[in-house]
Amino acid sequence: MFWLEIAYLIGSLSFILGLKMLSNPDSAKRGNLYAAVGMGIAILATIVLHRNDEGNAIGNIPWILLAMAIGTVIGYLMAMKVKMTAMPQMVSFFNGMGGACAAIISIVEYHGHHNLDFWLILVIYLGLVIGSISFAGSMIAYGKLDDRIKDIRASWLRIVNLVILGVIVLLVVLGITDPGNEMWMWAILVLSLIYGVFFVMPIGGADMPVVISLLNSFTGMAAAFGGFLYSNQVMLTGGILVGSAGTILTILMCNAMNRSLLNVLIGAFGGGGAAGPREMGDQSVREIQVTDSAILCAYARRVAIIPGYGLAVAQAQHICHEFEKLLEEKGVEVYYAIHPVAGRMPGHMNVLLAEADVPYPKLLEMEEANDLMPNTDVSIIIGANDVVNPAAEHDPSSPIYGMPIIQVTKSENVIVMKRSMGKGYAGIENELFFAPKTRMLFGDAKASLTSLVSELKQI
Ligand code: TAP
Repeated sequence: MFWLEIAYLIGSLSFILGLKMLSNPDSAKRGNLYAAVGMGIAILATIVLHRNDEGNAIGNIPWILLAMAIGTVIGYLMAMKVKMTAMPQMVSFFNGMGGACAAIISIVEYHGHHNLDFWLILVIYLGLVIGSISFAGSMIAYGKLDDRIKDIRASWLRIVNLVILGVIVLLVVLGITDPGNEMWMWAILVLSLIYGVFFVMPIGGADMPVVISLLNSFTGMAAAFGGFLYSNQVMLTGGILVGSAGTILTILMCNAMNRSLLNVLIGAFGGGGAAGPREMGDQSVREIQVTDSAILCAYARRVAIIPGYGLAVAQAQHICHEFEKLLEEKGVEVYYAIHPVAGRMPGHMNVLLAEADVPYPKLLEMEEANDLMPNTDVSIIIGANDVVNPAAEHDPSSPIYGMPIIQVTKSENVIVMKRSMGKGYAGIENELFFAPKTRMLFGDAKASLTSLVSELKQI
């Protein structure tokens, strides 16, 4: 057992180290690898060194190895094939698998003990409830993000949810008082799965990333309960890390949108969709052509690039980097203004731009970028919408009111690159498009940037 404990200690340390390294783009890739190696050590050590109370080694090793091989191949293929824009879906799907594992552990443990004392059965049921909710909720979140499932904005669902939650609590109490009766366990499982579906169903599509992060923290908690059950330190540490990281991320996302978690869960915000008009009152949008945009940028002193979800959709990160390098060759200072919730997942823009080898120091956080805006000649918004919508600052009736934004109107000129007057994630008009300083460069971001690059080469 000594070596098993040592292996778990190494596993736990590598998770902590890996997580720490994930906070910096330079070390993130290595951090991920360290944590994966730590997990590999913990799994292998368990298979080889673990002994049960009777001193027997783990059986069924060929089955375990076969299951691991199948899981590895599926995970590898999915991760290699996934598009950057579909990353949140994949995270949600994998998170659901974690929840399902936690629930299955609880079911197996329920049957594996002759003496189910109070604490043991409590931990089993908590793992079962949280794991099942996380699994079912993540699958619905996956379906919504992948546009396979539509929102159901029925307010009665919230009341039904409260009732189901109450019944689950009641069943857990009954199950604890009558531990030998399997019926309670199955009833809790079924109701928790239903609750997971109903819990996510009414939440607005725009809020799915927050929900995924919340469900992620649930999965972590469920895994930590599994760690208790098995007295397994590495599972406990991993579960606590996932649980607390998911909770912190949920809070950070809510703060970045200036919304409470409750508002996210019951606020039904967003949906994106239909294109708005090109006129607002007596104002209409003004367009700019590629040649004029290239001239404006080439003769600027400082240019800000504000990337958003559309940059990821267009997969325009590489051509964007080329555009930035060409401008710098012409003596223009270029920086990227990164809004904390630009895109569809935390760090979406950072990951996208890192993929194109944009140097990290060029990526400025929102506050720093806003300080530079009054001294910026041109702000180029590439596929961003909500994160530059001034209504967030002055219109209390706007659903995004209070969300800090990149204050592009403080710069001299604003160019907005997007395909149409289509709305952003929050599904609202953007008055910035009608502002006197703004010019619209309509078209797919990749196509527009490609034309801009060839124009720049001729200047
Ligand atoms: P959005 O407001 O979603 O706007 C994206 C814009 O990109 C759209 O208006 C769309 O307009 C344009 N676009 C799409 N495809 C394009 C293409 N191929 N070429 C050019 N433009 C294209 O994006 P954002 O400004 O990044 O804001 C993110 C939103 O997501 C916020 O509301 C935020 O609260 C929400 N959200 C984010 C997160 C995280 S963690 N990132 C979490 C929860 C919620 P067209 O259709 O006209 O082209």
